[in-house]
Amino acid sequence: EQSKSIKLEEDASLPKANKAKIGNLAPFRSQRVRVFGWVHRLRSQKDIIFIVLRDGTGYLQAVLSGLTAQTYDALTLTLESTVELVGTLQATPEGKTAPGGHELSVDYWRIVGAAPGGDDAFTNRLNEKSDPSILADLRHLVLRGENASSVLRLRSLMLSSFRESLGAHHLLEVTPPCLVQTQVEGGSTLFKLDYYGQPAYLTQSSQLYLETVLPSLGDVFCVQESFRAENSHTRRHLSEYTHLEAELAFIDFDGLMSHIESIICETVDRLLQDEKSAALIKQLNPTFEPPQRPFMRLSYVDAIKWLNEHGIQHEAEDAEGNTIKDEAGNAKMVDHVVGDDIAEAAERQMTDIINTPIFLYGFPAELKSFYMKKMAGAEQGGHVFTESCDLLMPGVGEIVGGSMRISDMAELMAGYKREGIDPAPYYWFTDQRKYGTCEHGGYGLGVERFLAWLAKRYTVRECSLYPRWPSRATP
Ligand code: 4AD
Repeated sequence: EQSKSIKLEEDASLPKANKAKIGNLAPFRSQRVRVFGWVHRLRSQKDIIFIVLRDGTGYLQAVLSGLTAQTYDALTLTLESTVELVGTLQATPEGKTAPGGHELSVDYWRIVGAAPGGDDAFTNRLNEKSDPSILADLRHLVLRGENASSVLRLRSLMLSSFRESLGAHHLLEVTPPCLVQTQVEGGSTLFKLDYYGQPAYLTQSSQLYLETVLPSLGDVFCVQESFRAENSHTRRHLSEYTHLEAELAFIDFDGLMSHIESIICETVDRLLQDEKSAALIKQLNPTFEPPQRPFMRLSYVDAIKWLNEHGIQHEAEDAEGNTIKDEAGNAKMVDHVVGDDIAEAAERQMTDIINTPIFLYGFPAELKSFYMKKMAGAEQGGHVFTESCDLLMPGVGEIVGGSMRISDMAELMAGYKREGIDPAPYYWFTDQRKYGTCEHGGYGLGVERFLAWLAKRYTVRECSLYPRWPSRATP
């Protein structure tokens, strides 16, 4: 009752308080400051209230004591309420630690928006032990947590570092469309939609568009959403993901792999050199070590041998692609043969045993898209191999897919035919072979997969702001 009669007012005779973001408070030590944010943590001890305030730029410990801790609002304050705090910023006393190395001694504060207490309190809505689908529904609240927000903060810094590395290699950023009328990676994973009465798709890859601007802009890259209607519930598949793709002209296969390696290593170096991103990597993945160069290069044919030598088999399938089961209902396991698509499980096992980044290269043409360049003189047992590569990382598996592209018109026409693709809607792509062709190649890097590797996350779902997977498009 008594608390209700206490009204706080800002003391106009005190020195002016500068408004600042929490992440930028260091220059204001020993001065009065005004900060706004969300109550991240809350604790009271005797007549003192300790708040950890969060504003997205950092965390600030604040202390309410005396009258400021005795108001009705102070006694009923809840987590996730928004508040304005004004006070003197003091270096944390010897022997104590606080975020930023300082603490706010509050002389005036007010509630901006009170969050509910009781049944509807934040901590009741969000219980970390909740069912994963409930946590997915509550992604907007999960994001307020320290780990979830750190992953997204690292994602932002990582994208900036990639852009810097690509810029340093003279690649120009472009922004291709998401609404398209052509496929890149096979018709089975296209999201189809009605586009003013015509069929259209959500893009699977911006590669073909990047290829069209080589003659005008030179080497290019984009950071664009790609969409895959894959009914995959694995920890590395999303229905929508951020795709970092690049395309380079007048390059050869060896140069392409070296370029991918450089971009990845230089990006990691930038992140480790920057204080903020280095701290985030340390927090999320304390044992992270930058990869050693050069990356191992393993041909597809040698990988098949390796898998068989290490007893890594795959489930046998019948002609329709159904798993063959024994009488007990267990899948029949068989050795790999040249021509098999190395499945996620086998690829992961191999990568984890070898435990370094691996360029797996030279996939059979029948497993790959229409646009891939064939490897000269590498036919074996009826198989034709391509100048294609996947970069595999321990813990995640494939994070990059790249290749040299067909530069010859007749070979491209044969590629369309082999894949049963009508060349008509690809006229703009085919024109690139007509008006001054060149040897060129490129790659796509899954941003969420790269981040899962860097930040050691169990699934790519943690690496996307609002992840989409089969039947999930909420929030
Ligand atoms: O290997 P992909 O399918 O290659 C392409 O799309 C090429 N056209 C890229 C190019 O050369 N410009 O995909 C490239 C990368 C994969 O290595 C993986 O990291 C990521 O995209 N990726 C996915 N990430 C999350 N969820 C999915 N469903 C993904 N599909 C591919």
